[in-house]
Amino acid sequence: MSHETRIRKLEHIRTCLEKDVEAKNITTGLEHVHLIHRAIPRVSFQDIELSVKVFGYEFSAPIIVSALTGGAEEGKRINAVLAEAVEELGLGMGVGSQRAALEDPRLEETFRIARKKAPTAFLIANIGYTQLVEDYDVADVRKAVEMIEADALAIHLNPLQEVIQAEGRPGGPGLLNAIKTLSEELDIPIIVKETGCGIASEDARKLEKVGVDGIDVAGAGGTSWAAVEHYRALESGDLAKAELGSQFWDWGIPTAVSIVEVAMSTDLTVIASGGIRTGLDAAKALSLGAHMVGVALPMLKAAVKGVEQAKLVLKQLINGLKTAMFLVGAGNVDELHKVALIIDGPVYQWLRARGYHPECYAMRGL
Ligand SMILES: Cc1cc2nc3c(=O)[nH]c(=O)nc-3n(C[C@H](O)[C@H](O)[C@H](O)COP(=O)(O)O)c2cc1C
Repeated sequence: MSHETRIRKLEHIRTCLEKDVEAKNITTGLEHVHLIHRAIPRVSFQDIELSVKVFGYEFSAPIIVSALTGGAEEGKRINAVLAEAVEELGLGMGVGSQRAALEDPRLEETFRIARKKAPTAFLIANIGYTQLVEDYDVADVRKAVEMIEADALAIHLNPLQEVIQAEGRPGGPGLLNAIKTLSEELDIPIIVKETGCGIASEDARKLEKVGVDGIDVAGAGGTSWAAVEHYRALESGDLAKAELGSQFWDWGIPTAVSIVEVAMSTDLTVIASGGIRTGLDAAKALSLGAHMVGVALPMLKAAVKGVEQAKLVLKQLINGLKTAMFLVGAGNVDELHKVALIIDGPVYQWLRARGYHPECYAMRGL
């Protein structure tokens, strides 16, 4: 079992590095979100404050590396690189699903390395929803948390992937009860994250009720797990699964829409991810109401090249974010939450159809 999990994780990394696994006909929707240029500088560029306090932790910028890997030698190397980069830059990161190490303690080191390389950074443990419902008790989850002395726990939702993946277990009801029990037992924040299909307001409200602290929307427009599983199915000759993967390649709620749905319908901490590729994307996501952004695929591609490249990509994100903040006159992330923005096109229509008033964003301002 653990061998299977380990091999699968390696195939995921390889597929994501070698194939085009991003959305084709759906986008994050952030291109339909327009920040309004302010020609008269309101704040000094050098005084722009990017630091944020989220989950009681001081981040130097509102950016985390989303859950990627662990469980194999290659995963260990990647976790080590990412951890070193986020430690140096004062950011945070999630490790990938810790299932492999819970099945085989010999693989724990592939995750523990993150804490070794990042003694003070914000680290997020990671488990899957099916395992939480069907396999794990609270003691198992504690083991995952303790493995990396995690500051928070992420429970990932990947129902689409579970259906397409040959070894997948899509599961059924029972998740909310399992999360409720966990939230009563654990004393670190619980984040529920999708993996590229977004989270709707109805589910966000249910998650808030059972005691979750944060939601990482991981919306559509970035990495598509249907695409990843499409390629894996093709390689193994499972043409039916490959076909299913192509049908659902672009399934999901665009990231921009999901941010608004979750931010407007709950008081939870919102992490925006799924296709965040530039500092400008980050600025728009934060302005829509997110507290932090997460980036996965570009960080995987950078990490295989080493720590310097990982730091470079993160610094570029930070620079782009700071530039956008300067151009809209936001001196800090709180102010970025208040600047005016225009939402147009399909994102406007989607939000209106769901009962939101995108005009409210256009009317506000500093
Ligand atoms: C190679 C790879 C492995 C991933 N493994 C996990 C995982 O184990 N647990 C998880 O919660 N998300 C996992 N993800 C999903 C990401 O955390 C993220 O939600 C998703 O890729 C969307 O972000 P992106 O468009 O920036 O890649 C993985 C992503 C990639 C690319």
